[in-house]
Amino acid sequence: IFAQTTITLHAGTVEQTINKNIYGHFAEHLGRSIYGGFYVGDTSKIANTNGVRNDVIAALRKLKIPMLRWPGGCFADTYHWKDGVGPKDKRPTIVNTWWGGVTEDNSFGTHNFLNMCKELGAEPYLAGNIGSGTVQELADWVQYVNFDGVSPMSNWRRQNGQDSAWHVRLWGVGNEAWGCGGNMTAEYYANEYRKYATFMSDWDNSGKLMCIASGASDADYHWTETLMKNIPLHMLGGVALHHYSVLEWSKKGPAVNYNEDQYFHIMKQALLMDSLVRQHSAIMDKYDPQKRVALIVDEWGGWYDVEPGTNPGFLYQQNTMRDAMIAGVTLNIFNNHSDRVKMACLAQAINVLQSVILTDKEKMILTPTYHVMEMYNVHQDAKLLPVNVQTNNYTFGNESLPAVSCSASKDSLGLTHISLVNIDSKNTQNVTINIDGAKYSNLKGRILASAKLQDYNSFDNPDKITPQTFNDASLKGNTLSIKMPPFSVVVLELK
Ligand code: AHR
Repeated sequence: IFAQTTITLHAGTVEQTINKNIYGHFAEHLGRSIYGGFYVGDTSKIANTNGVRNDVIAALRKLKIPMLRWPGGCFADTYHWKDGVGPKDKRPTIVNTWWGGVTEDNSFGTHNFLNMCKELGAEPYLAGNIGSGTVQELADWVQYVNFDGVSPMSNWRRQNGQDSAWHVRLWGVGNEAWGCGGNMTAEYYANEYRKYATFMSDWDNSGKLMCIASGASDADYHWTETLMKNIPLHMLGGVALHHYSVLEWSKKGPAVNYNEDQYFHIMKQALLMDSLVRQHSAIMDKYDPQKRVALIVDEWGGWYDVEPGTNPGFLYQQNTMRDAMIAGVTLNIFNNHSDRVKMACLAQAINVLQSVILTDKEKMILTPTYHVMEMYNVHQDAKLLPVNVQTNNYTFGNESLPAVSCSASKDSLGLTHISLVNIDSKNTQNVTINIDGAKYSNLKGRILASAKLQDYNSFDNPDKITPQTFNDASLKGNTLSIKMPPFSVVVLELK
């Protein structure tokens, strides 16, 4: 069956820059994310640079990873950064109480993370501990990583082998303060935020330190309203938002052998991001009409049952074409709302939840989600071009969702990119794009698709799903005609 979608691309109306940090990632001390995922230690047989896997570094550079959040998540509010610096044999252990109760040796700490970010070309985003830490501890961390002058913390950093400060700009003031970060009320947290942010002085005098408030979960609009109302705007760089695509927390369903019902309802959850972003933004607009405070979706992605036989606390799940659909529609939503959404972190980069990379000892594979993020990286720091989409529905039972999603941008070289997703599990979409305000003569495209919705890349078949050249698009005058297979992602380049 062929269904019809009509899109108008306003190619002459250049809007705001799509902040590249919308394409950010998240690395928590959770399961095999840090230990075994990023970090194998410098004595490992797996090729590494200062203990970080070379294959991972190469893959994330190719992805153009712009930003990476660490050390949590829930872990962040249990983490004491001072235990992770200095001679490794002197470091105390930490029991990861949130994730599997495993004992970690603190061998991956601040220096490892910040130097790894340099290696990756990614901006670090540090999440501070306000749940079980102190104001002094967090203020000391800022001083340790950002101060170039003489001070107790900067001297200690030098003793530990790092002369120059790293000048970290992005700082989370706690995580999920309404839950694992301390079970606080919004009113109480707003005051805590004010206190912490006051003492996280700008140790590099750059005036650029950006404090980010722990944000709402899903549709908790009271949380956002309370923060916006009670925190002076000059103290607030960003407000976070977490939204996972999950069916039911007690019955999440499998990552691979899901049925149509489960697929449809996960897509419904993913598309809900649009209304969440709109409604949280509308609240922020009331207090900050100039949009100086960023909405930062620093946790998003699909969350399913762990792979059978794996530690339930490690949140290890496979990644199928369903995850490619989540990534495609979510990134389109962020691009289209990039006037307010300035940063986002997919949860999580390696071996946890909706990963871009999975590892098994010396083996590493790239997931369909990786390939979507790689195809979409053309939008990073490009200018948004508005699109109007009229699409038919993808229906299941009595419910329906818009089948096609789209966003577009123009980069610094003058190239226009259009990213399209057809979430319909059965129907091909004939997409017509009417181009308004520009003339193009050259068209190229790539597609991510597969025979079955439940397909995935495995350690035995790592390249089952990879982007391919797309030949089902044609340009005649101002009209683009595209034939999109079911559950596919297409990125077009126009010149
Ligand atoms: O990403 C996994 C967990 O999900 C994070 O630690 C927490 O912030 C959220 O609840």
